[in-house]
Amino acid sequence: MRSRRTFIKKSAVVGAGITMMPSLVFGINSSVDKLKIGLIGVGLRGTNHVNNLLLRNDVLITAICDVDPVRISLNLDAIEKAGQKKPMVYGNDDYDYKNLLDLKEVDAVIIATPWLWHTRMAKDAMLAGKYTGVEVSAANTMEECWDLVNTHEQTGTHMMILENVNYRRDIMAILNMVRQNIFGELVHFRCGYQHDLRFVKFNDGKSAYGKGVEFGEKGISESKWRTQHSLLRNADVYPTHGVGPIAAMTDINRGNRFLSLTSHATKGIGLHNYIVENGGQDHPNAKLKFKQGDVITTTIDTANGETIIVTHDCNLPRPYSLGFRVQGANGLWEVDGNRMYIEGKSEPHRWDKADDWLKKYDHPLWIKYGEHAMGAGHGGMDFFVINAFVESAKQNIAPPLDAYDAAAWSAITPLSELSIENNGEPQSFPDFTRGLWVKRKPYNWIKETY
Ligand SMILES: NC(=O)c1ccc[n+]([C@@H]2O[C@H](COP(=O)([O-])OP(=O)(O)OC[C@H]3O[C@@H](n4cnc5c(N)ncnc54)[C@H](O)[C@@H]3O)[C@@H](O)[C@H]2O)c1
Repeated sequence: MRSRRTFIKKSAVVGAGITMMPSLVFGINSSVDKLKIGLIGVGLRGTNHVNNLLLRNDVLITAICDVDPVRISLNLDAIEKAGQKKPMVYGNDDYDYKNLLDLKEVDAVIIATPWLWHTRMAKDAMLAGKYTGVEVSAANTMEECWDLVNTHEQTGTHMMILENVNYRRDIMAILNMVRQNIFGELVHFRCGYQHDLRFVKFNDGKSAYGKGVEFGEKGISESKWRTQHSLLRNADVYPTHGVGPIAAMTDINRGNRFLSLTSHATKGIGLHNYIVENGGQDHPNAKLKFKQGDVITTTIDTANGETIIVTHDCNLPRPYSLGFRVQGANGLWEVDGNRMYIEGKSEPHRWDKADDWLKKYDHPLWIKYGEHAMGAGHGGMDFFVINAFVESAKQNIAPPLDAYDAAAWSAITPLSELSIENNGEPQSFPDFTRGLWVKRKPYNWIKETY
């Protein structure tokens, strides 16, 4: 793919798509020179990506693949309504995605399938020379983490982990503050995935958020596959929403790296209680013993002397929070409580409300595209993660969040599992960059393009 200009200007609202977001015109030659994208997995998340892609005029969706015909027909309708040509369709069996990867009409792929498919599909996509985007988490085992890195290095094909929280407005403002040294030398972080997922892990098999206590074959959407991980693994199975943003702030794999972690798990009672409350004591699922602890706490040490506490808390009643805290020599931000303290600027020993700080350091990307992004899903961050993917793929250059990031962040799952199994024993992270982290330059996050 040759390099294209990323000059961007506003255009009129298109009628298609699920949102009222105006379309943007990307690139001077965008009407003749479009990035051809194939999607593998068009469930809830893949459909969200389809809808965002349909709002861009520098992209064509040339192929979609899903083993569920209902998801295919829903997405074909959306694509037709947007006025795009009917894409090629795959999904006859679990491996039909390989036929999508053979298409010369596909430059880039987005993989939004259940976790156990991610690495296998990403590997095959890189081997087929397709610019690859993979949903979170990217890998489940240490071997899979290495597979991503090795395949990227062997093929020279780029892959991006599609971590949208890195693009959240407050996170990008804090990243801006970090880059401007407002917090001073960085010391300590907290983050995690604290989201009551009981309604996601169980349903009635008819609708994704419907009542019911079924999962696996009898469930629908994420309950079909996600719940199995809670049954079989005592680990932080979903670390990247929390650790991704912190990794960007601390330049992980670019002058810094994760050295080791320790993990601890509480008992697991939340999922069992939910089944009993909603399905009764006699429901067969009430007899199951879920391996996953309800609250899993991991502490990571970095080469630059920071610690990061990552929490996984998805089985108990609680309001949503990713629990961010960013702390340096001069002060700290905490998302819970929406508060900031910067020595010499804040009244001594008193919290400021974070709002004014976040507004003052609003990221240039959000200032430029915030209005358009808001309709994209998850408060706008989905627009930016897809924008970064598309813009990087158009130029065939390294994405902001690459194979090394995907591997290092996803490695928290198998390492936390090992640590928990061994009473909190420290586990070392491999150096996925094989020494290159020392000289790799920090990513330039503060720019207006993507
Ligand atoms: N970044 C975010 O905010 C966010 C939000 C939701 C989900 N996700 C991630 O996106 C991924 C998908 O989640 P979801 O909520 O869309 O789940 P989902 O179950 O709704 O969708 C997965 C889809 O993959 C299809 N599929 C399964 N095996 C396949 C195969 N071999 N070939 C083709 N299609 C196959 C299924 O039929 C289903 O339609 C997960 O990794 C999840 O963690 C990320």
